[in-house]
Amino acid sequence: MDPSIDRLGRALSSLRISVTDRCNLRCAYCMPEEEYKWLPRDRLLRFDEIARLVDVFTSLGVHKVRLTGGEPLLRPELASLVRLLAAKPALRELALTTNGVLLAEQASALRDAGLGRVTVSLDTLREDVFQSLTRRPGLERVLHGIETATRLWPGAVKLDMVVMRDVNEREIPALFEFARAQGAELRFIEYMDVGGATRWNERTVVSRQEILERMQRAFGAIEAVVEDSTAPAERFRAADGTLFGIIASTTTPFCRRCDRARLTADGMWYMCLYARLGLDLRELARGSASDDEIARRIAASWSARQERGAELRLEELRRGPLVAVEDLRTDPHLEMHTRGG
Ligand code: 5AD
Ligand code: SF4
Repeated sequence: MDPSIDRLGRALSSLRISVTDRCNLRCAYCMPEEEYKWLPRDRLLRFDEIARLVDVFTSLGVHKVRLTGGEPLLRPELASLVRLLAAKPALRELALTTNGVLLAEQASALRDAGLGRVTVSLDTLREDVFQSLTRRPGLERVLHGIETATRLWPGAVKLDMVVMRDVNEREIPALFEFARAQGAELRFIEYMDVGGATRWNERTVVSRQEILERMQRAFGAIEAVVEDSTAPAERFRAADGTLFGIIASTTTPFCRRCDRARLTADGMWYMCLYARLGLDLRELARGSASDDEIARRIAASWSARQERGAELRLEELRRGPLVAVEDLRTDPHLEMHTRGG
């Protein structure tokens, strides 16, 4: 089939696959509630089903896959899925986003299975801040996970920091120095009002502009790197040559270049982080649909796609959380941790 292009001229080239909605942390920007309704386990896609869907997606132009969660390392035997996907020549990039808690113990199995890149969430270097932000201990394990990853995937590890006012914005320089010492690229992420971020408010967002100012104050001149890319991060170079990124989805959304879609662990396919409606690929895959039929359904949805959720949020005058807690309880698919961060 021909590559799929949507109504705004965007190609379908990247797929994020959530392999579980469960998480061993409770980050304030993602899972701040006490109780969650989890997806029933018997509805989760099996690895052979995921591999089959990936073949269908690559026939439509997808060449990058990122495994996410919840926390993907909680899915038993994840390395076997990596092995299945790494064997597909159409996939140019196979990556993982993890909170790092279980990374040190799983890294070499994942590396051996063919995982190509790793992104670890790292919002703080202080155990007290880590505990209040994630409501769990574990920073030591995360840091050990990062060290292991930078050894096994030199040059292919990124660290993601969601910057929040009065939580961790003063740690911007420290995180930058840590990432530089590790040889990992740091990306600062603006706090987004996605489903699940039920405590979101505008005041807590630290904007791209403010992040740059804080970086300049600490390290001197910062230069923008000019590149043509569909990656969400804009990249910058510090005076010493170190690169870093900023993902400014809240103040400067990148919807116009967004080439990605998301598959939940139970097979719902969403064409935008903010979309209310998705396509049930598990039902199609477990029914009698052939690969061609599934491909046609996906291609038809993508060619009708005009989502630009983050841009539309920007046009709203008085912004608050996207989805109320009551609605999240009735439909866990609205959660960021279900859609994959
Ligand atoms: N704002 C920004 N990023 C978020 N993530 C989850 N929730 C949010 C949010 N409200 C992203 C973070 C985290 C990853 C798993 O998902 O980058 O590291
Ligand atoms: Fe878990 Fe990641 Fe959400 Fe934190 S951001 S609660 S680590 S899924």
